[in-house]
Amino acid sequence: MAAVRATPRKPKAEEVRVLRLLAGLGAARAPVDLSSRELGERLEMSQQQADRYLLALEKRGWVTRRLAARRQRLSVTPLGWETLRAEYHALRRLFEGPSRLRVSGAVTSGLGEGRYYLSQPGYVVQFAERLGYKPYPGTLNVRVRPDDLAAVGAVRDWTGTRIDGFQAGGRTFGGATCFVARIGGKSCHLIVPDRSHYQDVIELIAPDSLRDSMHLKDTDPVEVEIEEA
Ligand code: CDP
Repeated sequence: MAAVRATPRKPKAEEVRVLRLLAGLGAARAPVDLSSRELGERLEMSQQQADRYLLALEKRGWVTRRLAARRQRLSVTPLGWETLRAEYHALRRLFEGPSRLRVSGAVTSGLGEGRYYLSQPGYVVQFAERLGYKPYPGTLNVRVRPDDLAAVGAVRDWTGTRIDGFQAGGRTFGGATCFVARIGGKSCHLIVPDRSHYQDVIELIAPDSLRDSMHLKDTDPVEVEIEEA
């Protein structure tokens, strides 16, 4: 777990509507030429309103605008696309229920930071209250098989148990989300820091040392099941 990112403000319904329209026109793949008047017409709002939403979306880094003679070239950024994906997931969950996922990987060692973060009283208190146990100080790292990486990435949109960031000793500790998980049939939680330096490694926490209880060592193959709350 690493320091820090403020949890981004949730998008307004109207902002999502504009993003959705632009993505529907293909603006996530290539820039789309569209005046604010045309955009307003499609969204059944005034040109001024459309302009205001575009400005807000641009400020949040979800849309880029390049102004040409009488037109503007609009693109949905990767961050904007992720915002839409979160909306998609919320609806998907409504119709299909909570998601679950099984990923394969291999045990690996991290930078030794897990022990430090998991020992912070500011986190320990929250784990005890919200997960119902004090975790063993550390995170078991699993390097995910390349084929399963995209699926694991989607977990960021899932609903889980929030662990809030806090300040202590003059520094800031970031928030994270935890998901019910099992490794080789043993209960644990996947912890997803708001800001992670890993791309292909997931981190698990549990009441006890998973290495000890499951006799795990680096490069051992493991299966991890993850469930949405
Ligand atoms: O970052 P690194 O993997 O070096 O270690 P850590 O997060 O500081 O955790 C300390 C050690 O405990 C590592 O070997 C973890 O794999 C292990 N661990 C474990 O076996 N079971 C847990 N529930 C948490 C950590």
